[in-house]
Amino acid sequence: MKKPGIINLFLPMMLLMALSVLAACGKTSPVEDEGLIRVGFSQVGAESDWRTANTKSVTEALTEENGFELLFDNAKQHQENQLLAIRNFIQQGVDYIVLAPIAESGWNDVLQEAKVAGIPVIIADRQLAVEDRSLYTCFVGSDNLTEGRKATQWLEEELQRQGREDVPLHILHIRGTDGSTPQLMRSKALEDAVASHPGWEIVGSLPGEFTDAKSYELVRDFLKTGVNIDVIYSENDNMTFGALRALDEAGISYSGEDHLIIISFDAVRDALRSCLAGNIDLCVECNPLQGPIISKLIKELEAGIQVPKETYVEEAVFSSDTLTEEILSKREY
Ligand code: AHR
Repeated sequence: MKKPGIINLFLPMMLLMALSVLAACGKTSPVEDEGLIRVGFSQVGAESDWRTANTKSVTEALTEENGFELLFDNAKQHQENQLLAIRNFIQQGVDYIVLAPIAESGWNDVLQEAKVAGIPVIIADRQLAVEDRSLYTCFVGSDNLTEGRKATQWLEEELQRQGREDVPLHILHIRGTDGSTPQLMRSKALEDAVASHPGWEIVGSLPGEFTDAKSYELVRDFLKTGVNIDVIYSENDNMTFGALRALDEAGISYSGEDHLIIISFDAVRDALRSCLAGNIDLCVECNPLQGPIISKLIKELEAGIQVPKETYVEEAVFSSDTLTEEILSKREY
């Protein structure tokens, strides 16, 4: 039998090598192979029970089974960390960026970079102060001004119910992270209400940063001044928990008739339990369950469907009179 010549062996080998080089050039990443949508999520931090529930909602919605590869970054309450995370996401060429911004301002440049890179940005939870709304694709989150107005309207009605509408009202205000949408809007609602009620006065405004520990310290020190308070308006539940501990230590009662009125935002399970027990008077819901909405929006965008610029989550209010064991038992967070 005639032996194969050197040329006869050389040609098929060259062909094989050329084919593998071509295959390597056109090779897709494992994520693309699986058809997953890569999403970078820059989360504010883990400052509150609400935030934990929000992270859970997003991470449980953007799973591989649901068609996503999620790159999660916890900014630990620092905007610089969020800017870094977004730039990393851009470098990694993610398909979408989800940003829960710690504060409203300071995003123009980085969003411009995402736009140039052609990466759609979904703003979650809090709003942005950018003039060019084309810098982000859409927003999903709460209407914090409405939340605040629900609280002040309830207070007005509650005082009428108690026959205290003409009595001077001393309010201790505990603010969330300054410059964040929930802080700005919930504070605005309170300040507007105080401006339209001559008897209402904010006797202290404390920067509680949405955390239990900070609020506890500030309220404890404030109570030492001996200033009289009738209402605590606390911009989230964790700050309320800290405030209640400080009140307990100072021996100040906040339950029973004619008591110190406690208004809290978020309505997480522990706050609702406290409301049912008559300790917190009003829980204004801030709904953290945004994950399924974000997932739906991304899938619509993938399908070329135009999505609404703003999607607001549904939110309720709970007072000791309306809250029941049944509502509490069904609470997801
Ligand atoms: O942006 C939502 C707010 O942030 C929640 O009220 C608060 O608990 C959280 O940390």
